[in-house]
Amino acid sequence: MFKWVNPKTKIEAELSVPEHVAIIMDGNGRWAKKRGLPRIMGHREGMKSIREAVRTAQELGIRSLTLYAFSTENWTRPEEEVSFLMKLPKQFLETDLKELHEQNVRVLVAGDTSKLPRETREAVDEARERTVANTGLNLVFALNYGGRDELVQAMRSIAVDVQSGSVRADDIDDRMIGERLMTHVQDVDLVIRTSGEQRLSNFLLWQSAYAELHFTEVLWPEFKREHFVEAIESYNARTRRFGGV
Ligand code: FPP
Repeated sequence: MFKWVNPKTKIEAELSVPEHVAIIMDGNGRWAKKRGLPRIMGHREGMKSIREAVRTAQELGIRSLTLYAFSTENWTRPEEEVSFLMKLPKQFLETDLKELHEQNVRVLVAGDTSKLPRETREAVDEARERTVANTGLNLVFALNYGGRDELVQAMRSIAVDVQSGSVRADDIDDRMIGERLMTHVQDVDLVIRTSGEQRLSNFLLWQSAYAELHFTEVLWPEFKREHFVEAIESYNARTRRFGGV
């Protein structure tokens, strides 16, 4: 529970906090364009919002925060932009890993890291290894991540076991598929997408089966603590029935 006074209504409320929040950080390009800047400047500014979101997640007591940093489709962007985006995780970890570690944050990565440039992979591997025993916020970067890609990998690995006879087709269930996903992230309670777009864009398709969705017009570089708390307020206004009544 999180005690919160709404600045507009001045009403004090106790908010129940979702365990796992996943964010589609959209609108960096438009933020830059509005200012006559190259798109990459939007991504750089977006890193500041990541910092603030991590702080807010810790303050609220969220267990896991998953951030969609690079999708399997993002490789089709201009080379200069891809190369800039690939440098950001290392830059971010160089400046922030020490503090994250001190704050007991565990850094994790979802996605196929084998295709990332070596320097990026090494930086995220180091962060994962250094923070592996931390028990605070799970901070998951989705890097070269695709929900369908993840499901394809899981289906393939099960098919191999069916072929070898170690798994019977009848044994395949929700749990088995969930366990074979490369992310191993828990179910998502709340998905936030910034910039006014209202779609999942191949993000955590399996894990978001019962997630609440919150869309805001705010562009990611402008997404601050107040917007995060607004999303939690809107989550509190929903009744989650998980298919029941
Ligand atoms: C979508 O906005 C954003 C991305 C594809 C990249 C998000 C990456 C960051 C916020 C920085 C990552 C940093 C770390 C530390 C991992 P867009 O470019 O599609 O925006 P647009 O729709 O306005 O063009």
